[in-house]
Amino acid sequence: MTDARVLCPGSFDPITLGHMDIIVRARDLFGSVLVGVGRNNQKKYLFGEQRIELVREALADIDGVEVEEIDGLLVDFAAARGITTVVKGLRFGADFDFELQMAHMNRGLTGLETVLLPASADYLTLSSTILRQVMQLGGDFSRYVPANVERAFERLRERSA
Ligand code: PNS
Repeated sequence: MTDARVLCPGSFDPITLGHMDIIVRARDLFGSVLVGVGRNNQKKYLFGEQRIELVREALADIDGVEVEEIDGLLVDFAAARGITTVVKGLRFGADFDFELQMAHMNRGLTGLETVLLPASADYLTLSSTILRQVMQLGGDFSRYVPANVERAFERLRERSA
């Protein structure tokens, strides 16, 4: 059976206001969204297993949005739920190459389609990678993340102090 939801997948390490902007816009365009918290085996995550909980908390008050963990291939996760379309944000710069590679691979594997939404101007260059550096080096990152991520990072820092 086909599921009308679109899938917004990502690593979300951590979820940022840029991700949330894309998720809400995807919900407004397509009706409802399943956010998939995935794993890229090439990456080591700062927030590890906590990423999904942070995504859930950040999106808890937003209607039409659900969250699940992606275990295994994205295309299998989508197929098991009857989801036919992925929506991802596209920022300025290098995003396009990698997004295009993933979109083509997913379409080649099962026909899963990808819609790329241009990131909003405020978040056009916002990256979790740079954000993690700023966090770890003591910069003020509060304007880029939901409040629960800020608190989670404080706890992380206290634990490692
Ligand atoms: O936030 P990211 O790093 O762009 O998210 C990447 C993610 C999680 C969407 C991607 O790594 C993914 O789809 N992982 C699930 C495993 C998979 O299907 N890998 C092949 C993708 S073509």
